[in-house]
Amino acid sequence: MCGIVGYVGKKQAVPILLDGLSKLEYRGYDSAGIAVMQNGEISIRKSKGRLAVLREKLEAGNPISGVMGIGHTRWATHGEPSDTNSHPHLSRSGRFAVVHNGIIENYIKLRQRLTEKGFEFISETDTEVIAHMVEYYYNGNIIETVAKVTERLEGSYALGILCADMPDTFVAVRKESPLIVGIGEGENFIASDIPAILSHTRDVYFLENNEIVMLSADKVDVYNLDGEIIEKNPFHVDWDISAAEKGGYEHFMFKEIMEQPNVIRDTIQPRIRNGKIVLDDISLTADYIKGINKIYIVACGSAYHVGVVGKYIIEGINRIPVEVAVASEFRYMNPVVDDKTLTVVISQSGETADTIAAMREAKRLGSRTFAIVNVVGSAIAREADDVLYTWAGPEISVATTKAYSTQLTAIYLLSLYIAQELEQLDDEQFRMHIETLEALPDNIAKILDNKGEIQYAASQYYNAKSVFFLGRTLDYAVALEGSLKLKEISYIHSEAYAAGELKHGTIALIEDGTVVVALCTVKKLFEKMLSNIKEVKARGAVVIAIAEEGHTEIEKEADHVIYIPKCGELAIPSETVVPLQLFAYYIASLKGLDIDKPRNLAKSVTVE
Ligand code: G6P
Repeated sequence: MCGIVGYVGKKQAVPILLDGLSKLEYRGYDSAGIAVMQNGEISIRKSKGRLAVLREKLEAGNPISGVMGIGHTRWATHGEPSDTNSHPHLSRSGRFAVVHNGIIENYIKLRQRLTEKGFEFISETDTEVIAHMVEYYYNGNIIETVAKVTERLEGSYALGILCADMPDTFVAVRKESPLIVGIGEGENFIASDIPAILSHTRDVYFLENNEIVMLSADKVDVYNLDGEIIEKNPFHVDWDISAAEKGGYEHFMFKEIMEQPNVIRDTIQPRIRNGKIVLDDISLTADYIKGINKIYIVACGSAYHVGVVGKYIIEGINRIPVEVAVASEFRYMNPVVDDKTLTVVISQSGETADTIAAMREAKRLGSRTFAIVNVVGSAIAREADDVLYTWAGPEISVATTKAYSTQLTAIYLLSLYIAQELEQLDDEQFRMHIETLEALPDNIAKILDNKGEIQYAASQYYNAKSVFFLGRTLDYAVALEGSLKLKEISYIHSEAYAAGELKHGTIALIEDGTVVVALCTVKKLFEKMLSNIKEVKARGAVVIAIAEEGHTEIEKEADHVIYIPKCGELAIPSETVVPLQLFAYYIASLKGLDIDKPRNLAKSVTVE
């Protein structure tokens, strides 16, 4: 969802901006643009489509030079993707250029007022009002001006602003949309995310809401809205740039699928010491946990699917009631939450607007908040009462895989931590759970070794019109994720169904050649799944079954069987999901689709 990069230094800005934007492509975009200070004037190039189109425009006789500039990839919200609606947007006189990530909710009112004052609008965007407002309020002091403008903006924004009066300084500000500052030697940067600047510097500031930053080649000053300088502590990024690059794989998604054994190990290992769960910096005490009346898990997309599995894990281990809600519903549903409810929010990016809003709603209702987050220093990580990081490293593919898997293991760790604090399990049971967790990385590596089999199944069905994923309890929870993976990247219609519910209507859709992926890993429900497979086969479906090693009787019923290693029941979703990720990946690959950047999707959804 929109990406921002800004540069000031001694080098040519254009290649740095384009390179930075390319590192933000994963966020999803449909147009791109840059503004560069060239001989005291602002020059702009922008175009609809991929960055390559903008690059061509710049190379084909329309270059710009200059050592300071801002760049943007736009994911359309207000106004269709077009050259005109792309950012940067200029103010009336052309003295100010603005890039924006977020949504200005009161832009219609602001636009009306500006129109009354004689400003003309050339785009349909909410962003253009900001460019005109900066010009309208400009009094020679850019910090005061930006403060004045932002006080009048409602909604979310990260802004980068060039001003022709300041040939070697630019400013940026944020509220609710992410923005970091990269601190280099004789050069400084802004960006929506760390990978955009990581080849230049590892020292960053995380800007807080309403902080304004002023950057020149040798100086970075951060101000509050009253114009006072704020002291910031730089954060040193210690992960490697190669972690954010493809490392020889054709797609980030495949690389990230293959990384799962390692990142799950990274998430688990430091948290298990001498057979105990150690969650550093988590302040949930036994007394607090004893008083919990329920746990609410709130998240969006795949992170929500982790929550659906999480309900089974937490209730299974701790017998504490768990409710799961999608964040965009939770925030408006008047949930029954009070100071005895623990709200667990799950988010890869830590910046999903609905999840942030849901977390704030839970806090308002008195709930303690516990975040499971991947991106260090993100909004959710900063605002939650406790944070358990998933240490998955940067995830670039829009369709999540390794972040989902590490979130699952984080939920398992949290459940065991609660059990340990409440002394709920006997030593033998506890040890069994720890062993289950510790065995996961190797088990997943085995599934990955067997990927040829899944590739073969995908090659048989990549032209399917519709795919159903069936399962019961934990398998149903994983089916939700398998189905989402397939539709996001292959654009094949797909549904996940609780296998026992199929006969209440949906079975009418099963016909000759319909592909059914049947998840049969829950031991006590294995026989029931066999019956469900028979039901769909009788109506012409072809069935790919996922089962635990040893359950060979399934080969009599299913057309293909993918086996996964034996594993403690509550951890089995961590295994089952892997063949489903690969299945979706191979199908999208066979269809020749843009796997890492599927149409219409964004990695980090920072608007409501
Ligand atoms: C987007 C992504 C999904 C992700 C969801 C929640 O829709 O495309 O893959 O699951 O947002 O994102 P979060 O960063 O909060 O986990």
